[in-house]
Amino acid sequence: MAVLENTILVNGKSIEVNHIQYDITLLDWLRNYNKLTGTKEGCAEGDCGACSVIIEENGSGNLRPINSCLVRLGQVMGGSITTIEGLGSDKNPHPLQIAFTNKYASQCGYCTPGFIMSGVSLLNSNKKITDDSINDAISGNLCRCTGYSPIIKAIKSAAKYRITQNNKQSIKKNKNITIGNVTYLKPSNLKELKNYLDDIKNFEFLAGGTDLNLQRPIINQKEDKLICLGSIVELNKITHLKEKIVFGGGVTIESFLEAVRPKMPELVEILQRFGSPQIRNQGTIGGNLCTSSPIGDIAPILLVLNSDLGIFGRNGFKKINIKNFFRGYRKNVLKKDEIISSVEIPYANPKNKLFSWKLSKRYDQDISTVSLAINIQTQKNVIKELHIAAGGVAATPKLLNKLSELMVEKKLDEAIKFAIDNVEKHIQPISDLRGSRHYRLEAIKGLFRRLQICLMQNKNSLSIMDF
Ligand SMILES: Cc1cc2nc3c(=O)[nH]c(=O)nc-3n(C[C@H](O)[C@H](O)[C@H](O)COP(=O)(O)OP(=O)(O)OC[C@H]3O[C@@H](n4cnc5c(N)ncnc54)[C@H](O)[C@@H]3O)c2cc1C
Ligand code: FES
Ligand code: FES
Repeated sequence: MAVLENTILVNGKSIEVNHIQYDITLLDWLRNYNKLTGTKEGCAEGDCGACSVIIEENGSGNLRPINSCLVRLGQVMGGSITTIEGLGSDKNPHPLQIAFTNKYASQCGYCTPGFIMSGVSLLNSNKKITDDSINDAISGNLCRCTGYSPIIKAIKSAAKYRITQNNKQSIKKNKNITIGNVTYLKPSNLKELKNYLDDIKNFEFLAGGTDLNLQRPIINQKEDKLICLGSIVELNKITHLKEKIVFGGGVTIESFLEAVRPKMPELVEILQRFGSPQIRNQGTIGGNLCTSSPIGDIAPILLVLNSDLGIFGRNGFKKINIKNFFRGYRKNVLKKDEIISSVEIPYANPKNKLFSWKLSKRYDQDISTVSLAINIQTQKNVIKELHIAAGGVAATPKLLNKLSELMVEKKLDEAIKFAIDNVEKHIQPISDLRGSRHYRLEAIKGLFRRLQICLMQNKNSLSIMDF
């Protein structure tokens, strides 16, 4: 069945989107306009997972959990959404719903629909069902009364039910849509984007929206134009070359994680701790860099790997090195009409070791307090090449090239002592809600000690949980 104009497929039924006065979230539309109140609102900020639904794009069979509170309705037009109501009914519950009952995995029940959606997405994926994959799948879901053990047991017990929820519908992607006061412009390639950039003056770019859509209220009465980057084919490409991987700027963090897993396994832990599956399925590499947050997780890695960024705008295409991208607190060099169209990540020299660590208040679903990325080569215990970058220690993610230069040609223990004694001269951490200046300084020193231990024990990486 082809989806009609201005419709969303919800639980296999095509629903027309009309009579909406102001731009709203998918969550509000499901609950308030369609009475699908099984999907809950907890935090409305992407933190609790109570609002999780599953999206399947273009009949791909790839079911991804997302936070419906963080998605604007205009982003999912023409998409296929499954809510808790679409999985089963009182009379005919989904096997995972039965498992939750049998394993006592629900008490107040408020978090339960979200957990079930995350669990079903895992059961439908090609991942092995293990403690690790379950922990990761539910890392974006909070339960405050049952506790996680019965929930994990329930998901494990349903492992044999790997149900394909494929709707087998041909989905027609809508072009431009106006919802209430907001017009969503959806160029399908860079050429179309350029035409919009030539014609339109006031607009904002929208990628996954995990940052932009937090700006409240989404519901306002202002006339807005959003240029959606998610529909641009070039921005979603991943190209594996001999010496580097080239990512389109719109590649999601989850796809980024899967693409680097085989060749840059050192990056897996930090990427797996990026938000939650729901956030990683929406958030993009380009969006992460363009927020230009000093605690964004991707920038330190790109800085030590000397990555180039492709920039596309009204005047065409150019390339810049990431070290010339950030300009100040949440500022970068992009002009109003420019986007990050690609991110080129060279493989580290095979003689080098790569480390990337993040310290945050919680292991999962938390933004860094500080982070450190290191690309290092040692020979006979002497440092021959070194690139260090840190997050959370200055107004922007920072390449510590002066400190790195001073550590090269020193013996490892001497160099680490030098770094610990001198790092204060190279960073300017501040005190805020995440941590004091003192904590941040000591934490970075601790990460240098961790580097020494890894290199002395000839380990590629030590998980942040290994201490
Ligand atoms: C619950 C939660 C957990 C999070 N956890 C983490 C975490 O662990 N680590 C972390 O680093 N971040 C985290 N974030 C922040 C956010 O998810 C990321 O920064 C994400 O990568 C942003 O990408 P996006 O596509 O959603 O950006 P959007 O929200 O769509 O856009 C962000 C900004 O960038 C602009 N923009 C987007 N793409 C481009 C482009 N290609 N070119 C030019 N401009 C562009 C937009 O106009 C907007 O100004 C978290 C956020 C939430 C809500
Ligand atoms: S309501 Fe908490 S993540 Fe959406
Ligand atoms: S069952 Fe009450 S919050 Fe999870």
